[in-house]
Amino acid sequence: MKNILVTGGAGFIGSAFVRHMVEAYPDYRIICYDKLTYAGNLDNLLSVSDEENYRFKRGDIADRQTVESVLQANNIDTIVNFAAESHVDRSILDPDAFVHTDVVGAYILLDEGRKHGIGRFCHVSTDEVYGDIDLGQSSEDDQFLPNSPYAASKAGGELMVRAYHVTYGMDTVVTRGSNTYGPYQYPEKLIPFFTTEAIDDKPLPLYGDGKQIRDWLYVDDHALGVDFLLHHGISGQAYNLAGENQRFNIDVTKRILELLGKPQSLIKHVPDREGHDRRYAMSAQKARQLGWTRKFDFETGIEATVRWYLENEWWWRKIKTGAYLDYYERQYAERLATAKLP
Ligand code: NAD
Ligand code: TYD
Repeated sequence: MKNILVTGGAGFIGSAFVRHMVEAYPDYRIICYDKLTYAGNLDNLLSVSDEENYRFKRGDIADRQTVESVLQANNIDTIVNFAAESHVDRSILDPDAFVHTDVVGAYILLDEGRKHGIGRFCHVSTDEVYGDIDLGQSSEDDQFLPNSPYAASKAGGELMVRAYHVTYGMDTVVTRGSNTYGPYQYPEKLIPFFTTEAIDDKPLPLYGDGKQIRDWLYVDDHALGVDFLLHHGISGQAYNLAGENQRFNIDVTKRILELLGKPQSLIKHVPDREGHDRRYAMSAQKARQLGWTRKFDFETGIEATVRWYLENEWWWRKIKTGAYLDYYERQYAERLATAKLP
C-alpha cells in the first residue's frame, strides 16, 4: 500500500482514521475524498491539513468521472470506503440520498477501482445489517435482516462488495462496527446530541421507554480496527468490530447527565422512532482471533467524550445553526410537544 483513497474521510469515523493513518504511516499517501455533505467537516482534519502525506479532494463517490480522475491522478492502489449517509432518523425522513451514496456510490467505487486495477478495497459497514436481535450476539455468517432504510442501504452496498470479490476476484474486506461515539461526532446521533443539548439545559428526547440496547465502540477503537483489518483481514471476509459494551439508552442518557452535573428531569420520553430496532449485539471473536482488541471500555470512553464536547464548543456550536435547526424542528418539535414526564 502506498496511495490510499479514504472516502468519507471528513466525517466522524473517517476523519479519526485519516488523522491516525497520516501520523502512523508517514510513507503512505492518504488522499481524502469527500462530498462534504452536512456531515462532512474539514474542521475534523485541521490537525493534518498541512502534512505532506495528506491531500483532500472534494467529490461524490457516485460521480464516476470524478472518481476515475482521482484514482488516476493519485495512482491509487487501495480504497477505504467510509462515505455514507449514516443517520437512521434522516433515512426515515428521506431515504433517497441513502440509496444514492450507500448503494450506488459503493458500486461506482468498486467498479472504478476494479477498472483501475486497485489492490485492497476495504468497505466500512455496520452492525445494523443484522437487524434487531433478541438474545445472543450476531456473528459474521448470520443472515442480513436490515430494518431501516439506512440499514438496508448499507446491506445493499455490502452485498455489492461481496459480488465484486466473488465475480471479479477483487481483494475486499468488510468491517461491521458497533454504534460508535467520541470526539467530532456530528451532534445528531444520541451521545453528542444529548451531551450538547444538556450543556444548554435543553430537553433530551429519548425515544419510547429508552430500554433499547446499543453496543458502544469508542471512535479510536473503530479507526484502529479498520487499520488492522485493512492490513490483516483475509480477502473476501467480513469482520465484526464489536464494542462489547452493551447499554440501555436510558442508562447512557443518565450517565451523560451525571457527568455534566445536570438534572435527570431533562429527560423527556417522546414517541418512538418508526421500526426502531430494540437491541444490537455482536460477537468480536473473529476479529479478536486475528489479533484485534478494543482498548476503551464504555466508562473511560464516555468520560473522555463528554469532556471533549465541554472543551470544544468552537467545533459544535457553529454546526447547531441553520439547516441543523430545520432538521431539529422536523424531527423533534412535534415529538417534544407530546413528551411524557419521566
Ligand atoms: P458521518 O455521517 O459522520 O460521515 C460520513 C461522511 O461521508 C461525511 O464526511 C460525508 O460528507 C461523506 N459523504 C456522504 N455522502 C458522500 C458521497 N456521496 N460521496 C463522498 N462522500 C460522502 O458518518 P460516520 O459516523 O463517520 O460513519 C462512517 C462510516 O461508518 C459509514 O459508512 C457508516 O455507515 C459506518 N458506521 C458508522 C457507525 C456509527 O455509529 N457512527 C457505526 C458503524 C458503522
Ligand atoms: P443513534 O445515535 O441515532 O444511532 P442508531 O440509530 O444507529 O443506533 O441512536 C442510538 C439510540 O438512541 C437508538 O436506539 C435511538 C436512540 N435515540 C433516542 O432515543 N433519541 C434521539 O434523539 C436519538 C438521536 C437517538
